[in-house]
Amino acid sequence: MKQKVLVTGGTGYIGSHTIIDLLENGYEVVCADNGINSDTSSLDAIRILTGVDVPYFHIDLCDLKATETIFVQHPDITGIIHFAALKAVGESVEKPILYFRNNLESLINILDMSIKYEVKAFIFSSSCTVYGDVTTSPVDEKTPLQEAASPYGRTKQIGEKIITDSIKNSQVKSILLRYFNPAGAHPSGLLGESPVNPPQNLVPVITETAIGRRASMTVFGTDYPTRDGSCIRDYIHVVDLAKAHTLGLKYIFHDKQESPVDIYNVGIGNGLTVLEIIDAFEKVTGEKLSYQKGPRRPGDVMAIYSDYSKAAANLGWKPSLDVEDIMKTAWVWEKRRSQK
Ligand code: WQD
Repeated sequence: MKQKVLVTGGTGYIGSHTIIDLLENGYEVVCADNGINSDTSSLDAIRILTGVDVPYFHIDLCDLKATETIFVQHPDITGIIHFAALKAVGESVEKPILYFRNNLESLINILDMSIKYEVKAFIFSSSCTVYGDVTTSPVDEKTPLQEAASPYGRTKQIGEKIITDSIKNSQVKSILLRYFNPAGAHPSGLLGESPVNPPQNLVPVITETAIGRRASMTVFGTDYPTRDGSCIRDYIHVVDLAKAHTLGLKYIFHDKQESPVDIYNVGIGNGLTVLEIIDAFEKVTGEKLSYQKGPRRPGDVMAIYSDYSKAAANLGWKPSLDVEDIMKTAWVWEKRRSQK
């Protein structure tokens, strides 16, 4: 009997790549998304790649009645992967109320339904941003959380607490996945980052600049005390990241998780600077990138990268793709996206 999994935010970047991995692993999938930062072209790509027409609910999860219609129509949902959230760090600083309302109200509603409809596994899209302004890396899951650097990060910190408190006396088991910096695109070239709003994240900014969609880009700060003065991050390929979600579901479905909630870092386990990422892009694509060096971006952490050994030990997850794969797939996707 196939397990049926609801993927919220499923037309988005990580959600759509995860739906492919779930289908390839024999799960049945239902998708819910409000289309605020993605469109259903990702479901078309999923249909081409897997032959599956994923049932799609175009709803706002902040609307409890609308959210419940998913479970009335699919009472056999046994797992949920909750991606749906706004995630632009800068925008969250300008519009904190929008971020708190959207990210927390939708989480509360989907949790409420998970408990009511006896869902077994709840995978939450958390983020390394919950660690705040760490002074050392790699960080592991025991690293104490600092003040979040943005309202976005705070919604992830609070979200983790809401889940922990809410499912305590329920049948739901939850895994919180703390992503580092997701990047890259599906090797088919049919799926990748295609936000409705202009992306702020480094890798799509690089590919958009290289293809001419942007006149140029700025390296935010080259005066940090790092090996070349620019910030260090842990860039994890989105296809590897997607796999962690499926393995997390399996871990709970196979009754391997004792505690109600468990936390895992998902990153590549080392750090690259912004200038090294630009170098890698130029080497892999042969493109020369036009960029200027500018002031630091408020809220940026100087350096953070993961220790993912807990996910390796418990979930059997480890990254298989590297920064070259990120740049290759991101560039193929950008060229395809710009042809449309
Ligand atoms: C990476 C580095 C920038 C753009 C955030 C969230 C995290 C996750 C990923 C959702 C930084 C530098 C960037 C540019 C630059 N969010 N940069 N010029 O801020 O590490 O992480 O996005 O999944 O939770 O916190 O990602 O890609 O914005 O920045 O120099 O035009 O690239 O200063 O050092 P970040 P990012």
